[in-house]
Amino acid sequence: MSELLSLKNKHYALSGGTGTLGGSIAKYLVENGANVLLMGRSLDKLQAKQKELNAFSENSAFIFKVDVLNEEALHQLKNTIEKEFECLDGLVNLAGGNLPGATLTPNQTIHDIPLDDTREVVDINLFGTVLPSIVLSKLMVKQGHGSIINISSMASKQSISRVLGYSMAKAGIDIFTKWMAQELASKHGDKIRVNAIAPGFFIGNQNRKLLTNEDGSFTDRANSIIKNTPMGRFGDISELNGTVHYLLSDASSFVTGSIFDVDGGFSSFSGV
Ligand SMILES: NC(=O)c1ccc[n+]([C@@H]2O[C@H](COP(=O)([O-])OP(=O)(O)OC[C@H]3O[C@@H](n4cnc5c(N)ncnc54)[C@H](O)[C@@H]3O)[C@@H](O)[C@H]2O)c1
Repeated sequence: MSELLSLKNKHYALSGGTGTLGGSIAKYLVENGANVLLMGRSLDKLQAKQKELNAFSENSAFIFKVDVLNEEALHQLKNTIEKEFECLDGLVNLAGGNLPGATLTPNQTIHDIPLDDTREVVDINLFGTVLPSIVLSKLMVKQGHGSIINISSMASKQSISRVLGYSMAKAGIDIFTKWMAQELASKHGDKIRVNAIAPGFFIGNQNRKLLTNEDGSFTDRANSIIKNTPMGRFGDISELNGTVHYLLSDASSFVTGSIFDVDGGFSSFSGV
């Protein structure tokens, strides 16, 4: 692989690294010679993922039981990384997702919106990215380089029915990405970059119930998504890997503050 795209021996931190998308990205990075620092809340899941990754490449995965909303734990993680690793080359903020309680049922109206769950979804999806980015980017500023990738959503651009908290949080991710990109580049140089990926629709644990019926057939919502996706299908989780690779590598050295749609054409299609 060309130097421009090399991820070899780099250290990348991933929140949500045991989740559907995070797990797939962690595996891809390790397969390409990188080391991953996985953050998660469940030690069991972290250990299982570490075992899987280390079986592929010895000592490639390191695990940290960290809730991304816990500032103190994030500061401790930063200190540990500083002590035990040469540097932190990148951070991928994958922790997030919707909560069933924050989703309106098809017959509910805005006046039924569960506000506590909605707030919780904003917290995890917005501050769950803001806090690790602010804390861990201190390492990047000190070492003089680093690439941060945030995860946005189709719900940040146009309204998607029933999921208010998630949509507000992901719209916040877009502007946070642009804001942090310009602050870092203008005050700390051109080697610390922040971008976001806006995935289209991938079936994972958090949306399976919204998209598939018990017999495995698609719900009306899933069929509507497919109809509005020019490629006519859901994404495969491996289809985020290429964009992650590009954004973490030097191939994107002049790219910061950008949001990349990986969506089979969903966001560019008028529906007609
Ligand atoms: N699957 C999709 O179609 C899709 C589409 C657009 C965006 N996304 C986004 O991609 C990201 C990953 O989604 P996924 O499908 O892999 O979901 P997932 O539920 O499989 O993974 C999310 C992970 O985040 C972790 N997490 C949640 N709160 C946390 C906290 N406070 N501290 C630490 N970890 C926490 C969960 O435990 C889980 O492991 C999310 O931000 C999601 O919103 C997913």
